[in-house]
Amino acid sequence: MTGRDMGGFKILAGNSNRSLTEAIAAYLKTPMTKCQVRRFADMEIFVEIQENVRGADAFIIQSTSFPANDHMMELLIMSDALRRASARRITAVVPYFGYARQDRKPGPRTPISAKLVANLITRAGVDRVLTVDLHAGQIQGFFDIPVDNLFSAPAMVTDIKQRLDLKNTMVVSPDVGGVVRARALAKRIDAPLAIVDKRRERAGESEVMNIIGDVQGKSCILVDDIVDSGGTLCNAAEALLEKGAKEVFAYITHGVLSGGAVARISASKLKELVLTDTIEPTAAVRVARNIRVISVAPLLGEAINRTFKEESVSSLFD
Ligand code: R5P
Repeated sequence: MTGRDMGGFKILAGNSNRSLTEAIAAYLKTPMTKCQVRRFADMEIFVEIQENVRGADAFIIQSTSFPANDHMMELLIMSDALRRASARRITAVVPYFGYARQDRKPGPRTPISAKLVANLITRAGVDRVLTVDLHAGQIQGFFDIPVDNLFSAPAMVTDIKQRLDLKNTMVVSPDVGGVVRARALAKRIDAPLAIVDKRRERAGESEVMNIIGDVQGKSCILVDDIVDSGGTLCNAAEALLEKGAKEVFAYITHGVLSGGAVARISASKLKELVLTDTIEPTAAVRVARNIRVISVAPLLGEAINRTFKEESVSSLFD
């Protein structure tokens, strides 16, 4: 018996990214489930689901983006409310999975916060997780429930093909750690790959940016999962232009954009930064001269549709 036969499906929005949830609901041609997620005077979170969800296949859309801890608590409390209201299955749709960069012990007496977050989500009653471009694929193993890690690459590829002349394009990983991700995108558009190799030759000296690959005269596309301070991106763009690149674009899934990142990117030589809407764009992002946002709502909407119908999600990427 599929979810369709049991109690239908329900789409619920936390406060992190209501515009994405609205777009997903529009894709699925379904109204969002009436649900209040608000604060008491002392800022405790209170959730009230205002319609019947008994037996339903429930999908909570919530990125654990800034303010990460508040949004995480909203997700946990919404899940608790759904579980106590007898939802049949709860899927946490976490387009941007925060804490993912804390996926190992960087030193003695430090936590593995991504694992702790996975435990919290599971203990709150979530049955499965749907996310986009996890910082490291192996974070799926921190959960003992199914995790579908979707890729934004097809949406990026469509956009790239519409806007750039692929004959003169080179995909660039801004650091050695991002090579697998960049190579996957390069393969999809049949473009060569270059790598920015950051090295500190001697302690106390500043990092040297070496470019592996000939970028002379090329339109370069930097590919990464996260832009946070913008440092990695702007430094890589600078290094590519110094090596003779014609122009530099960037396609990045999650626009964390902390502190002065938007100003830094606007002032940089990046021709354009294309983000997805896994994190709700701020007003500053919307008006930035060289930042554009493409939507993963159709991707998430289709993944939700297939999850509900017990159909293959991976075939979305064939
Ligand atoms: C790091 O492993 C990530 O993939 C990004 O490269 C990083 O988070 C970007 O950070 P920032 O924008 O602060 O340089």
